[in-house]
Amino acid sequence: MEFFAKSGSAEKQKTGCLILGVFDSRKLSAQAQLVDELSDSYLSTIVRSGDMEGKLGQTLLLHKVPNLNCDRILLVGCGKEREFEVSKYQKISAKIIRILDETGTSDAVNGLVTLNVKNQDLYWKIRFAVEAANDALYRFDQLKSKTSEARRPLKKMTFLIESRADLTQSELAIEHANGVSKGQSLTKDLANLPGNICHPTYLAECAQELAESYDNFSVNVLDEAELKAMGAGAFVSVSQGSEQPGKMIAMEYMAGGKDDKPLVFVGKGITFDTGGISLKPGAAMDEMKFDMGGAASVFGLMKAVAEMKLPINVVGFVAAAENMPASNATRPGDVVTTLSGQTVEILNTDAEGRLVLCDALTYIEKYDPELVIDIATLTGAVIIALGHQASGLMSNNNPLANEIESAADMTHDRVWRLPIWDEYHDQLKSNFADFSNLGGRPAGTITAACFLSKFTKKYRWAHLDIAGTAWRSGAKKGATGRPVSLLSQIVLNRANKAS
Ligand code: BES
Ligand code: MN
Ligand code: ZN
Repeated sequence: MEFFAKSGSAEKQKTGCLILGVFDSRKLSAQAQLVDELSDSYLSTIVRSGDMEGKLGQTLLLHKVPNLNCDRILLVGCGKEREFEVSKYQKISAKIIRILDETGTSDAVNGLVTLNVKNQDLYWKIRFAVEAANDALYRFDQLKSKTSEARRPLKKMTFLIESRADLTQSELAIEHANGVSKGQSLTKDLANLPGNICHPTYLAECAQELAESYDNFSVNVLDEAELKAMGAGAFVSVSQGSEQPGKMIAMEYMAGGKDDKPLVFVGKGITFDTGGISLKPGAAMDEMKFDMGGAASVFGLMKAVAEMKLPINVVGFVAAAENMPASNATRPGDVVTTLSGQTVEILNTDAEGRLVLCDALTYIEKYDPELVIDIATLTGAVIIALGHQASGLMSNNNPLANEIESAADMTHDRVWRLPIWDEYHDQLKSNFADFSNLGGRPAGTITAACFLSKFTKKYRWAHLDIAGTAWRSGAKKGATGRPVSLLSQIVLNRANKAS
């Protein structure tokens, strides 16, 4: 779908569908009032009749409203005017796409961007209307033998803004949102693909494709033999039990100054996590195809940044491996030497994410990073702690944590910070190596991050545990595309600051 912005008055719009807001209770928005006047009180009569109270998410489709040039009007309930905020706006933006999708209209004019959303400006309103729309339009049907000929006639949405002077920021918002959405779709596609298709080699090919499609974009792939020779013993201990060769994939997007240190994003790319010899129980094990959600979000971020052509240096680094049980797989109790030289007693082969990440986090020291953020479906415990709303945030640097929290506020791709105090490190003690990869049941998300923090002392670092936010289970099973919006915002904010 294509998005545009234009200035004009609501009551004069010639379109398949004009979208207008109504607040609870029964209060027409300013634009709706203008339409009401021209249509001889058509809207106010309907509202008074009780068919549209303005409750959040309520919708009413009207045809042939008198004296107007539009074929339809979609009235959208926005809830209480004073409580109209970010999450409600995003919810409505997705809802109207689903409603319009079921009508015969191919274009729509959206007036909702003139409504007041708490603390947000026009750029934000347009940006997140587009992101929400693209998110709602996403389908994953590439593996069905017959793709359901999507009856999706909606082709064009135009945001109706108040003044021509706002056109530039509106168009920038659309451009940014389209970039982020393209990244998010890639993230969802990769995460939704099953382990028999999306293996480490597939991810490496995907990275090559990105490098061919964009300027300033290059890729370097390290194979398992090189990694072994280099001394990445923790990574290899996870990958060795699989027929699928593990890979570390470095995507470098260098559109910033030659001497600008890069922002480095590291993704956990376990393309399937059986648990290894510490085998997982069978129930819902299929969902462990999503265990490369962190890597998928790094791919999505790289695509988004390249689409937006941001003038900045960003490295996306993915540690891709499959965690399988086999006769040559790592046993509980095995001791391995990490790329950093520190030794680890592997008490549970299902705590594999931290093992592939620790070597990646050591390897990327070579970039002399400005900051490092790793993204990983690392622990089931984060779902117990934060559910499916917030990603877990842990960091060794307060300003970086604050920077991430404010990008999360803006995108509503939320995070919640957990501590990684020294005291928690005691849970990783080992009798046989420098430390173990297992912290026990208490604070499992934190001890996983404490493990990683032993490899990130040389730079500003934050860790996002996205096990609860990267995908949905149940009837709507599938990747969410999180936290691409958040990561893109972090980079956007940095790029804005620099320019
Ligand atoms: N990929 C899992 C984490 C996970 C579990 C994500 C459930 C989403 C849903 C990770 O590799 C894992 O198995 N973690 C273990 C760690 C434990 C053995 C210390 C876990 O969370 O149980
Ligand atoms: Mn695991
Ligand atoms: Zn895992």
